[in-house]
Amino acid sequence: MKIVVSGSSGLIGSALVPSLESSGHEVVRLRRRRDMSGEPSVVWDPAMGVLDPTALEGFDAVVHLAGENISGRWTAKKKAEIRESRIQSTRLLSEELARLSRPPRVLVSASAVGYYGNRGDESLDESSGSGNDFLAEVCRDWEAATGPAAGKGIRVVCLRFGLVLSPKGGALARMLVPFKFGLGGPIGGGMQFMSWIALDDVTRIVEFALAEPALRGSVNAVAPNAVTNREFTKALGRALHRPTFFPLPAFAVKLLFGEMGETLLLMSQRVQPARLLEGGFSFQFPRLDSALLSVLRKPCPALEP
Ligand SMILES: NC(=O)c1ccc[n+]([C@@H]2O[C@H](COP(=O)([O-])OP(=O)(O)OC[C@H]3O[C@@H](n4cnc5c(N)ncnc54)[C@H](OP(=O)(O)O)[C@@H]3O)[C@@H](O)[C@H]2O)c1
Repeated sequence: MKIVVSGSSGLIGSALVPSLESSGHEVVRLRRRRDMSGEPSVVWDPAMGVLDPTALEGFDAVVHLAGENISGRWTAKKKAEIRESRIQSTRLLSEELARLSRPPRVLVSASAVGYYGNRGDESLDESSGSGNDFLAEVCRDWEAATGPAAGKGIRVVCLRFGLVLSPKGGALARMLVPFKFGLGGPIGGGMQFMSWIALDDVTRIVEFALAEPALRGSVNAVAPNAVTNREFTKALGRALHRPTFFPLPAFAVKLLFGEMGETLLLMSQRVQPARLLEGGFSFQFPRLDSALLSVLRKPCPALEP
């Protein structure tokens, strides 16, 4: 397939592009800056609504991962960037795809399990309703922004990613420093559920979504075994051979990280990949212990600046 990928320089994109290429696909990156590496790319400016539609002609599939990174303090400006970078870019892409004379067959667009909000130990699948906090609202509007493409008959799959496990970036990379020094521990009591997914399974799920004609709509991209933060902490300590005696209480999370910490570290989502399992997807890493061992054993090339 000829595939265009946005957000290709990010954590998921930089693993996905080589994986798609090694499966024999032709990949073109949709980037915000001109590419000096010589790799095939198309430039867009989603914040300014700039995307040359002729550059999108002739693709079989689109993978849309772009969005402002959600780590860091959620100031009003940062929250606006998190929201607009996702919703404006998805709407722009989706509208331009819908206008093409030969649109692609499939659009795989990122979303997140943050869609569900804070749900305790309730088992959540794709039929569960959304939450009403900031991230849940962003996810709802982000998915809805694919509407023009779906309306044109393009098969749209919104992948609700859980916490992606990679030592190169994201939450796990940030946890590694304190844990390696033996300073890790459960966060805010540790009873909140974490829905995680190994990076290798993320790339396999995207390829599955591209290839599987029956899959459409919202799809949870998480391993089938969500764990509590306490279980996650113990598993990471085991994988690193380090003790995990240093709890981080909820008030300290709120003080240190504000709303971002409250949302990403204290909220609980026990998400099941119901539609992937129904569709016959087979996880390479369904269990956390083996996922962590594999992820932490891998060499760790740097992400693009
Ligand atoms: N990693 C996770 O644990 C996780 C979990 C749930 C959901 N997700 C979602 O999955 C998607 C990909 O995740 P990721 O971890 O690969 O993200 P990432 O590492 O933050 O990369 C996102 C990419 O989006 C582009 N980008 C950055 N800021 C942007 C902005 N203001 N406007 C438009 N584009 C911007 C950049 O690519 P270019 O510079 O090439 O344009 C960047 O490399 C994101 O939308 C993320 O929210 C990730």
